[in-house]
Amino acid sequence: MSKKIIIAIDGYSSSGKSTMARALARRIGYVYVDSGAMYRAVTLYAMRNGMTSPDGKIDTPRLVAALPQIEVTFNAAGADGVQHTLLNGEDVEKEIRSMEVSSLVSPVAVIPEVRERLVALQQKFGEEKGIVMDGRDIGTTVFPDAEMKVFVCAGPEVRARRRWLELKEKGEETDFEAVLANVKERDRIDTTREVSPLRKAEDALELDNGEMTPAEQMEWLMDKFYSISGEK
Ligand code: CDP
Repeated sequence: MSKKIIIAIDGYSSSGKSTMARALARRIGYVYVDSGAMYRAVTLYAMRNGMTSPDGKIDTPRLVAALPQIEVTFNAAGADGVQHTLLNGEDVEKEIRSMEVSSLVSPVAVIPEVRERLVALQQKFGEEKGIVMDGRDIGTTVFPDAEMKVFVCAGPEVRARRRWLELKEKGEETDFEAVLANVKERDRIDTTREVSPLRKAEDALELDNGEMTPAEQMEWLMDKFYSISGEK
């Protein structure tokens, strides 16, 4: 039997990382962890407790002081086949995907103490290996020794179009330009922040999925997985 590995998938916002990582995990029987959902849950906590303002300002000292009271976990996949994010035991899967959370999450994710706490939790999830995790710093900071690292990219317009469609399907009508602006602004914050900025790990495989169908993407991933893990 071949050994289980760690698969780190990083990339820009709305590059389809989560869908890809989830589908891959299901296919190979690995655990999937959405690290972005954890930053989103902390952001929701901050919003609900009056620690954020609409212009993107975060009351950092209060949020840092509250961190020990913030528990982020995941439940087992429900009827929709998707595992839900829990904030202090409450299912917040829907709330954390709103535009409001999207527009505040990157400023929350620059706070070093927030990162430190979530990275520690993420590393615990990986102790047993057999995990697919997606995010911004998985191959660089969370699991620098991951056996398989993928860096996903695609142009901002392609990504904004995907995000806009996803929101529309969920019944949230948004202006395409606003979604595009959010995607670009998050790219900017994510790549320029001081702690663990988004960047391709040297040993990551680059995947530009702008023109790929989900099936082609899965084939690409499985091919790499087989050759790295030795599984067949
Ligand atoms: O779904 P999308 O790719 O747009 O974003 P996400 O994966 O849900 O992550 C939301 C935000 O959390 C990102 O824009 C980053 O600012 C932050 N994040 C991070 O800093 N580090 C991670 N490992 C994952 C997310």
